[in-house]
Amino acid sequence: MQLVVKTFQGLEQILADELRALGATQIKILQRAVSCVGDKRLMYRANYELRTGLRVLVPITSFKTKHENHFYKKVKEVDWSKYLDLEKTFALNAVTSSKYLTHSRYLVHKAKDAILDQMRDLDPLRRRPSIDTSRPTWRFHIYINRDNLCTLYLDSSDETLYKRGYRKAVGVAPISEVLAAGMIALSGWKADCPLIDPMCGSGTIPMEAAMYAYNIPAQYFREEFGFMRWDDFDAELWEEIKTTANAKIKESGPAIFGSDKDVEAFKNALLNVETAELHQKIDITWRAMARRHAPEPPGIIIFNPPYDERMPEEDIAQFYKYIGDVMKQHYTGYDAWIISSNRTALKHLGLRTSKKIILFNGPLECRFQHYELYRGTRKQKGE
Ligand SMILES: C[S@@+](CC[C@H](N)C(=O)[O-])C[C@H]1O[C@@H](n2cnc3c(N)ncnc32)[C@H](O)[C@@H]1O
Repeated sequence: MQLVVKTFQGLEQILADELRALGATQIKILQRAVSCVGDKRLMYRANYELRTGLRVLVPITSFKTKHENHFYKKVKEVDWSKYLDLEKTFALNAVTSSKYLTHSRYLVHKAKDAILDQMRDLDPLRRRPSIDTSRPTWRFHIYINRDNLCTLYLDSSDETLYKRGYRKAVGVAPISEVLAAGMIALSGWKADCPLIDPMCGSGTIPMEAAMYAYNIPAQYFREEFGFMRWDDFDAELWEEIKTTANAKIKESGPAIFGSDKDVEAFKNALLNVETAELHQKIDITWRAMARRHAPEPPGIIIFNPPYDERMPEEDIAQFYKYIGDVMKQHYTGYDAWIISSNRTALKHLGLRTSKKIILFNGPLECRFQHYELYRGTRKQKGE
């Protein structure tokens, strides 16, 4: 079967590599997604093991459309009785980049009418299945691209895969688990040296780092996926996939640290790490960045400093200069990766950037920048 796995912009190549490692074939990079071919085993493994996937979708049909009535007609042409009966429920999501059919909510409404009208026509008593937006038997997705190509999909994940099930407490501006996992992969860290997040908030980056380093499957803590409610759910195959993946979990790994100067953030991170039983593997402390001591290099720091649009420019400049100074003083010999949506702020670090990657944190365009904190990293005037 064909599968389309959604991801964040900028993580497509990482996701393609992950899918290749799972045995997917005919891998194609799309925008914010990767398509491939595989079987039910791959679909289950993709849901359980991918770190940078957001949803694993199975295409139902594709058609070009520019008009709402035509869209309704094409949706009604699908044989929905293959999926639905009176006992089953469904939900719909839509995303559109079409300049003709611009309202995703309206598309959901039209598609719902088309499905329910077909189902009513099939029932002598004109009964129809129900909608359930929280825990449906089937979640269908509608995507219309810029070229007006509409694709309908089954969503085998249901809840997005960044909901790993381990983050019980979140603070201000937590980073998505999928983005954190993607950043760790993009940094090239091979779990062979210490990793530090000196502004860890709820602890997402250290937790994703630990899960990667110890080979803990991305969805080890999650219990439910959409495909479990499908008629063809193969519980035996699912158990086998989990057992095989869980058997690869390692006993030992690198030192991983998270710290934050805010006591609430520290408490959140601690709770999350304990919930995931990662407290033996991650050292969480309550400490300002300037007050934490790094182990001998080599090592890597990966973090997303706060950025508040309401903060005056002067304060931002000062804060980022402080971060740059601390990095230079405390982390000599380290590799540093910082993500921020504020390009001007990043300039105030006063460090020479050795790599820039554009990533998206939701709709927010960010720079994920690499700094080699060796001697001579300090930026010279005019650079
Ligand atoms: C954008 S949040 C990080 C979110 C985190 N990645 C997560 O997923 O929850 C930035 C964090 O930096 C912390 N912070 C700000 N200034 C700090 C400093 N000087 N030292 C340590 N932490 C600091 C804030 O308390 C906040 O928790």
